[in-house]
Amino acid sequence: METLYTGGRLLKGGWKWIACSLLGSAAADPVVEPVQVLEPWAGLNPGIVALGERLFHDMRLSADNTVSCAHCHRLGAGGSDNLPVSVGIRGQLGVINAPTVYNLNTHVSYFWDGRALTLENLVQGPLRNIREMGTDWPEVLAKLEKDEAMADAFRKAFPEKGMTPDTISRALADFMRSLVALDSPMDRWLRGEKDALSEQELRGYRLFKNYGCIACHQGQAVGGNMYASMGVMGDYFGDRKRPLTRADRGRFNVTGEEEDMHVFKVPSLRMVVLTAPYFHDASADTLEEAIATMARYQLGRDIPAEDIRDIKAFFHSLLGRHPLLRERE
Ligand code: HEC
Ligand code: HEC
Repeated sequence: METLYTGGRLLKGGWKWIACSLLGSAAADPVVEPVQVLEPWAGLNPGIVALGERLFHDMRLSADNTVSCAHCHRLGAGGSDNLPVSVGIRGQLGVINAPTVYNLNTHVSYFWDGRALTLENLVQGPLRNIREMGTDWPEVLAKLEKDEAMADAFRKAFPEKGMTPDTISRALADFMRSLVALDSPMDRWLRGEKDALSEQELRGYRLFKNYGCIACHQGQAVGGNMYASMGVMGDYFGDRKRPLTRADRGRFNVTGEEEDMHVFKVPSLRMVVLTAPYFHDASADTLEEAIATMARYQLGRDIPAEDIRDIKAFFHSLLGRHPLLRERE
């Protein structure tokens, strides 16, 4: 049943991958590897990125000046908040797990249901969300314009437009475009550094390919570039012991099409060792649990504990470096 990805197309049948791994080739083959080297975004303006970084930490972007983007997307900790649902202004609980803000450049769209098509467009989402920052542009502009240093920074970064909703969104978006964690062991291995992966990590990568995880988690971000149903091979939501919520409907909320019920953007696995708990509903506390759930509901099989350990080791090899990301382990 495996549907596999190669060279931009989805192929039925996994003979190519299986042949590769049976031959036991330890070297990366740039032509057929489904995981690709994470590349930085070219051509960013450092002044705009620095302004975006300031805005990302600016609590004036919330109604009562208590919540910044960084409140829920903790950059040192992997870009999410490690909570089942986020906590916004006045201690309000959100409705869905916060994803990381690292490595977003190759994503097909943003949010679990893909309702924002660009990072610029996304910004108004949390800003206006009543449970998150609960404000709006006129309020934010009024506060920021009073700050001479901030207004000046905008005039420097955007000589023509100055401070507007568009330039605020653009600065935040460009800052996020700069959040790419480069040079992970996996990337070094893909570039030909044979010793960059341990034996266990390499075993984990082969299992990840052979089980068919790569049908959905692939490309530079090991995810983020397509949508898929949660529960392809099993009734995930039926088996979950919690009532259905609106957020569980996924892309159905965006398109209204029955076939998009419970369809989500496939999450990137680049930061996954830092961003527990897992899934849009935070139903898995550990990576072991998340891997087992994926095997069961996306691939229709129960996989042995040692394979789960190896796949988890492979996930560690996906974690790259960025100055704002605190090194772990
Ligand atoms: C109160 C917590 C909270 C705050 C504040 C917050 N976010 Fe988020 N963020 C979330 C949650 C929860 C989601 C997932 C929402 C969804 O998918 O429906 C999210 C999703 C995102 C995504 C999408 C990532 C992806 O993989 O698609 C980006 C990018 C993002 N936020 C950036 C920001 C920026 C920029 C700000 C500040 C303007 C911000 N967030 C403020 C909680 C927060
Ligand atoms: C049919 C597509 C598909 C396949 C195959 C698949 N996944 Fe997923 N994966 C998804 C989707 C969609 C989600 C998000 C589901 C949700 O949040 O409800 C996800 C989520 C995850 C997560 C949680 C990420 C996070 O940040 O919350 C992990 C870990 C994961 N997958 C690992 C795997 C592994 C390991 C395999 C192979 C055993 C696999 N996936 C196979 C589509 C797939």
